[in-house]
Amino acid sequence: MTEIKKHFAVIGNPIHHSLSPQIHRAFARENGLDIHYEAILSPLDQFKNTVHTLITQKLIGANVTLPFKKEAYQLATTHSSHARIAEAVNTLEFNDNEIIGHNTDGIGLVRDLEQNLNTHLKHKKILLIGAGGAAEGVIYSILEKKPSELTLTNRTIEKSNVIQNKMDVHAKSFDVNLNVIDIAKCPHQYFDVIINATSASLSDDALHMDPKIFHGGSLAYDMMYGKETSYMNQAKSKGSRVSDGLGMLVEQAAEAFFIWHHIKPHTKSVIESLRVL
Ligand code: ATR
Repeated sequence: MTEIKKHFAVIGNPIHHSLSPQIHRAFARENGLDIHYEAILSPLDQFKNTVHTLITQKLIGANVTLPFKKEAYQLATTHSSHARIAEAVNTLEFNDNEIIGHNTDGIGLVRDLEQNLNTHLKHKKILLIGAGGAAEGVIYSILEKKPSELTLTNRTIEKSNVIQNKMDVHAKSFDVNLNVIDIAKCPHQYFDVIINATSASLSDDALHMDPKIFHGGSLAYDMMYGKETSYMNQAKSKGSRVSDGLGMLVEQAAEAFFIWHHIKPHTKSVIESLRVL
């Protein structure tokens, strides 16, 4: 009897740019799995219907990308701790009548930093720029690694305060100083790792931060991938190490793959193959 191909998808709008099908197919090939993984464009007001249609087609799981991560959180009937804290879901698992929502973005970022870029977060001073969904999706995973301090800065400072208040609920489990500072005051402080989680790089807008924040001992990470952003160029010109977010993309996919298949795929060769495209 031939085994039925397991069916997966990534849902977003737009979706044509998504590298997820390529990444998951590469992981599957490496592990001898025959899967079907496709990109689904959902109309903006039809996310719920799109998911339910896919469930009737016996989908095992789906990745969710912009702008549906919050809606996916609402739709899920059970949540992982990372999804619950971020109030956003990027990986869905369909299990009988249950829709399990996970968020693997933070794990993806931390693995890229620690395993691929050899930058361990424990006892480090970290600056996270941005207070939108991307920043919120990774903050819990960063705190779990017990940096000596995590500072959050955002153009609109009130939004950083909202995240800080939310994370205060978990303060006891983290024992990490989570500060909020004004973006204009950044240069007066020293950070080991500076992470750009704003959407400014999408339009290649400058962040209006003093370049003195970057130095020879820092790693400047941009969660965007696919091009050298002005953020990365500015950091490089100050002698900082830089990285885009391609490794994070592959690592978050690897964690989703693990959730669905219980196999940890190798990521290095996949990152390298996408890097040369
Ligand atoms: P995402 O889900 O990608 O995080 P979002 O929730 O719209 O998207 O959040 C975008 C983030 O990028 C916000 O932190 C935003 O700052 P504001 O809260 O002040 O809007 C930040 N951002 C976008 N463009 C920016 C720019 N040109 N300079 C600085 N920050 C910017």
